[in-house]
Amino acid sequence: MRDILPPESGRWRAFDQVFARVVERAGYGQLITPLLEDLGVFTRIGDATEIVTKEMYDFVDKGDRHIALRPEMTASVCRAFAEHRPTLPWKIYYSGSNFRYEKPQRGRYRQFDQVGIEVLGADDPHLDVEVIALGWEFYARLGLRRVKLVVNSLGEPDDRARYVEALREHFAAAGDALSEQSRATLERNPLRVLDSKRESDQPLIAAAPQIADFHSDDAAAHFEAVLAGLRLLEIPFVIEPKLVRGLDYYRRTIFEFQGETLDSAQNALGGGGRYDGLVEALGGPATPGVGFALGLDRTLLACDDEGVFPALPIELDAFVVDVTGGSAAVELTAELRNAGFSVDRGYDNRSMKAQMKLANRSGARYALIVGDDELAAGTVVAKPMQGGGDQIVVARPDIVAHLSSPTEQK
Ligand code: HAM
Repeated sequence: MRDILPPESGRWRAFDQVFARVVERAGYGQLITPLLEDLGVFTRIGDATEIVTKEMYDFVDKGDRHIALRPEMTASVCRAFAEHRPTLPWKIYYSGSNFRYEKPQRGRYRQFDQVGIEVLGADDPHLDVEVIALGWEFYARLGLRRVKLVVNSLGEPDDRARYVEALREHFAAAGDALSEQSRATLERNPLRVLDSKRESDQPLIAAAPQIADFHSDDAAAHFEAVLAGLRLLEIPFVIEPKLVRGLDYYRRTIFEFQGETLDSAQNALGGGGRYDGLVEALGGPATPGVGFALGLDRTLLACDDEGVFPALPIELDAFVVDVTGGSAAVELTAELRNAGFSVDRGYDNRSMKAQMKLANRSGARYALIVGDDELAAGTVVAKPMQGGGDQIVVARPDIVAHLSSPTEQK
């Protein structure tokens, strides 16, 4: 878990703001849910999911409730939907921290942030397209270019179940040819064997049955409609028949946005898909859902790699240097801030030299200097700090006007 200092923290806020702008324009409203939920909310994500079985921060609180820090937000959204029964379709977005007890490394943390959207209550493949297109647009707005969209369909729950059986047989028949780790995975969740990065497993994975051969007509038609929509919007994609994703609740469309500059183990910038049965499992009516979550931490690493969406320093209009005791600075900063300017100042009545050094470092457009002479004369020295220019003496009442239109005053 990390501390995020300025100016990086400002970049996090800007990230959220860009995301909110993109999805609010498409009719999504923000949902804020608690960081904690009853453990049962998350166990319903699936007991074959490592996120649930191994990585959860769960504990018993003082009221004897077994609760957990959220490892993701889709389950909380479905819980909230079941509780509030909003009108359909419910289009919401969220942003915030999640917690998974993973092995920390670059791009993988125990506390990480996501932004995401979910739509509950509509089955239309056009929605899958809308959701994917909004993710795509968001990355473009950040300035990222090396993002690859991969899509797949897991079919209907029955298709998926038959496919899982076929995979189980295929891998079990391989015996020791499958790595020990993958044999353990096979016991729990045969789909996840397809995720194995081990070299020795690759020939068996390549020869494994393909999900498309198990798609029902409905599932195949839904997937085709999604692909047609993506083509219509000219969003490039790659069909990846081995894409399975790490959560159990998916059916039909699944997708991932991969950062091509990142290490393959941590290259998923975001992902999502359709899920069914989750609302029902949480006490609501049977409700279709589709959505995604995008990882902030990893996406910013990809931005660093591509040199886009930099952390910007806080921009200051002025830095007040007062060597007469500080009262003039109290008044001047308050007046300027009230007038809408961004203003910082020196403290502790430090020397002119020390305060000017701070003014320089602050990146402010102007240093506004008050010495004994200025105090007596009712003036302020305005010294341009960026790009040079001569300092001039401004009458105290004219200072706001001077900052508003500096060129006119010169
Ligand atoms: P997920 O694939 O588990 O999906 O997480 C989505 C994104 O969160 C990942 O692609 C990654 O960028 C980021 N992420 C996950 N774990 C970590 C970590 N330990 N450190 C840093 N970043 C991480 C979900 O969470 C689903 N709820 C997505 C979804 C929404 N499906 C349907 N609706």
